[in-house]
Amino acid sequence: MCGIVGYLGEKNTKEILLDGLKELEYRGYDSAGIAVLENGNFSNFKAVGKLVNLEDKTKDYETKGFAAGIGHTRWATHGKPTELNAHPHLGESSYVVHNGIIENYAEIKKELIRKGVTFLSQTDTEVIVHQFEKNLKSELNALKAFSKTISELNGAYAILLVTKSEPDTIFFAKHGSPMLVGISCDDNEGSSERDNTMSCEKYFASSDTPLIGHCSDVNYFEDGDYGYVTSDEIVIFDKDGAKKDPIFSALSQNKLSAQKDGFRFFMEKEIYEQSDVISDTLMGRVGDEEIHFDELDKTLFNGINEIKLCACGTSYHAAMTASYLFERYSKIRTTLEIASEFRYRDPIMSKDTLFVVISQSGETADTLETLKMAKKAGLKTLVICNVDNSSMVRLADACILTRAGIEKGVASTKAFATQVTVFWMLSLYIAKLKNSLEDQKIARQVSLLREIPTHVKVTDEMHERIKRLSKRYLHGHGFFFIGRDVFYPLALEGALKLKEISYLHAEGYPSGEMKHGPIALADPELFTIALLPEHLHYEKSKSNVEELSARDSTICAISALEFDKADDFVQISTCQDYMLEFFEMMIVVQLLSLEISIRLGNDVDMPRNLAKSVTVE
Ligand code: AGP
Repeated sequence: MCGIVGYLGEKNTKEILLDGLKELEYRGYDSAGIAVLENGNFSNFKAVGKLVNLEDKTKDYETKGFAAGIGHTRWATHGKPTELNAHPHLGESSYVVHNGIIENYAEIKKELIRKGVTFLSQTDTEVIVHQFEKNLKSELNALKAFSKTISELNGAYAILLVTKSEPDTIFFAKHGSPMLVGISCDDNEGSSERDNTMSCEKYFASSDTPLIGHCSDVNYFEDGDYGYVTSDEIVIFDKDGAKKDPIFSALSQNKLSAQKDGFRFFMEKEIYEQSDVISDTLMGRVGDEEIHFDELDKTLFNGINEIKLCACGTSYHAAMTASYLFERYSKIRTTLEIASEFRYRDPIMSKDTLFVVISQSGETADTLETLKMAKKAGLKTLVICNVDNSSMVRLADACILTRAGIEKGVASTKAFATQVTVFWMLSLYIAKLKNSLEDQKIARQVSLLREIPTHVKVTDEMHERIKRLSKRYLHGHGFFFIGRDVFYPLALEGALKLKEISYLHAEGYPSGEMKHGPIALADPELFTIALLPEHLHYEKSKSNVEELSARDSTICAISALEFDKADDFVQISTCQDYMLEFFEMMIVVQLLSLEISIRLGNDVDMPRNLAKSVTVE
């Protein structure tokens, strides 16, 4: 997730911006930059990699007095992590930083280039500053130019812009990506007594932590808010252009809690933010009736008759889910490999196979080695990854970024959710290319895809329900997670989550396989988490569960349909399609492992014996 900071005041602007960016490092980034406007002159610095590289570039620079400055840490989604792509982005006399995705950037960019604008970066963000300067030529003043620019953007954004045409001002806009502004005034009155015209320093950030220690009162912008700040005022307009007063609230002073946005663990926070990050994953890729991957050259699929998916752990479960979708929708033979096995087999590889590796980190040793094997064998390669510029991204012929933002919890959640989302999109993208599915069926699937964010929103009621029933699953001689079709990899994933953070034994199993041996374990101390989707093999799955229930296994059924033979029952909402049931059940199994682990007193974010990225064999 990118990070934004801004400062307007008399203090050492450079230091305030750099310190603020350091407080945002936990969000993950691959480049950073600042721009400061002082006495009508800009100073701008950018660096790839860690903030220490930016600090090194700015070591001989200091601000002397009043200045307006903005800063940014970038997690690449459009364009490689390079200095040119790092923010702030320059127009002729303005700089901009931006979080989010400008969905219509390509058409804006095309029109600006047609009018002679030169772009330096590959980013969507750069269109904002050039569009602003284009509007500055026709509008009465900078505010009207900024307002017009914001009205022309589609997508999610948190924006800060500084311009020589209004040197004592910072312009802001917020829609779909968080941002707040804090004030620090010389007097010691509380903000409630303070009117909005006192001379105060202004601090901006995309989350609380950079403001802690500088401000005690902050205003959290709402979607549609835009406006500007000067020393003397904060001027906010709402989405309808009506002026509104800032609403100040007390800023939490606990940095770690702020980094977790108040959640108990990063994993919990990451489960909750899946709705937002999946919206980012979909952004700019879901057309009216088909899928677009600007980052892919369609010729990648020329001459391809098979897809081989290769990964480890949770990424392997996403790959297994994809294998069902590729054969069902893309009508292409799909095979699956566990990387640590594949690399030591003597695999037969043919050049009509597209070799696809899946990795959150892009650094997993086993998966990386299989990618090297495929390239050496002359296969075309694609990586589905969350970290741009990682080893696998640099090595593969093509890459689709999952845009999950940094995942701090060792037990993967949002990375898995965004991988499956990308695969669902990719299965339809290939179906269109190969004409393997009727257009109206593709269109229906595309409309279902848009519903994912709604179906992964965690409700208090669901979380409370799972918190309560988790107390019954703290012992026993093991768990079976069972499901059919794509719910089998989801069962494997649910079992892995539980193992990883509760240290209880759990197995994922195909529902139909239980009678081939495992049912011998059935007794009240054997807990079965049964995934019962309404829209996929419901009756078959239900009879498998009834076989277990008849042998007194303790059953926790997850379904949209009431199931009276379960000891526990978690009801998901009625969905239009089994893939939406998949995402709802994913939330349930993630929360179940979280709450059991918390009850057992484990370190949810850093479970024993595990690493976030297994870069060794
Ligand atoms: C998942 O919860 C684990 N952290 C682990 O299985 C992980 O998915 C696996 O190590 C692969 O990592 P990667 O996606 O970064 O390649």
